[in-house]
Amino acid sequence: MIKFKQYVLTDEDFENLRSLIYKTCGIHLSDAKRDLMHARLSRRLRQLGIESFREYYQFLIRGDSKAEMVQLMNAISTNLTSFFREPVHFEYLTKEGFSEIFAGPQSSLRIRLWSAGCSTGEEPYSLAITLLKYLHLRNPAGMDIRILGTDISTRVLKEATSGVYSEDRVAKIPEPDRRQFFDKFKRGEGHYYRVKNSVKNLITFRRLNLMEPFPFKEVFDLILCRNVMIYFGRARQESLVNKLYDCLKPGGFFMIGHSESLTGINQPFEYIMPTIYRKKIG
Ligand SMILES: C[S@@+](CC[C@H](N)C(=O)[O-])C[C@H]1O[C@@H](n2cnc3c(N)ncnc32)[C@H](O)[C@@H]1O
Repeated sequence: MIKFKQYVLTDEDFENLRSLIYKTCGIHLSDAKRDLMHARLSRRLRQLGIESFREYYQFLIRGDSKAEMVQLMNAISTNLTSFFREPVHFEYLTKEGFSEIFAGPQSSLRIRLWSAGCSTGEEPYSLAITLLKYLHLRNPAGMDIRILGTDISTRVLKEATSGVYSEDRVAKIPEPDRRQFFDKFKRGEGHYYRVKNSVKNLITFRRLNLMEPFPFKEVFDLILCRNVMIYFGRARQESLVNKLYDCLKPGGFFMIGHSESLTGINQPFEYIMPTIYRKKIG
């Protein structure tokens, strides 16, 4: 049996690392996450051949360790997601949201949608499928439609970009949609599903830390930022919500997760229904 080196995470190590994580990406790790931090980062220390958490922290705060900060985010972020999670948002888009977006004052059919904190891609792919169905699968070649999927973790973005999912992860997608939007293939003992290019081609994935300035030149018709802010402190939530507001077109929609709320946050959004907001027109 292989024996792994056991690392000790002292109170000081835990505090140092969690405040560095909070400063960098806004994620607040509660005391209950101590074991999780220990387990996930021990693996990283082993890979790097580093002797202790203290040494790892010193390595991280040195100016030349940007790449390791990315690895740290990969290790500690929580990436739970699924296709058509919180379906009420996709239903709302189909029934009302998309028709408002497509009939908006800027009906040039230059449509920009953003899944902020997209994890392994299920959310932007669900959005693309909902949109294609709304358009009756019309080839959107004549329209300029782009969906952006961003996340802080390069690990999840790699998976999102591949667009390949095991059978259990697509199980809840109705069979006709699965056939329409995925190619099934066998690998080893299992069956997998690859998102078809008609869906994939609508989406661009890139790394973006929501705590940093946004690099966008254009504004969005819709931003989904669901189950991301839940890990942030209040001040960070408020500043992020206002930053996202500035990135929307007038009339643009903003959706958050059902365990999140804008209550108590100073922000200018118009309330549509629980978890759905809109930027005021004019
Ligand atoms: C729980 S997942 C939610 C995924 C998807 N939005 C959903 O609701 O199913 C949260 C995602 O937010 C990302 N995240 C956390 N902090 C972030 C930050 N500061 N900038 C960008 N993404 C972040 C995590 O890496 C993770 O993939």
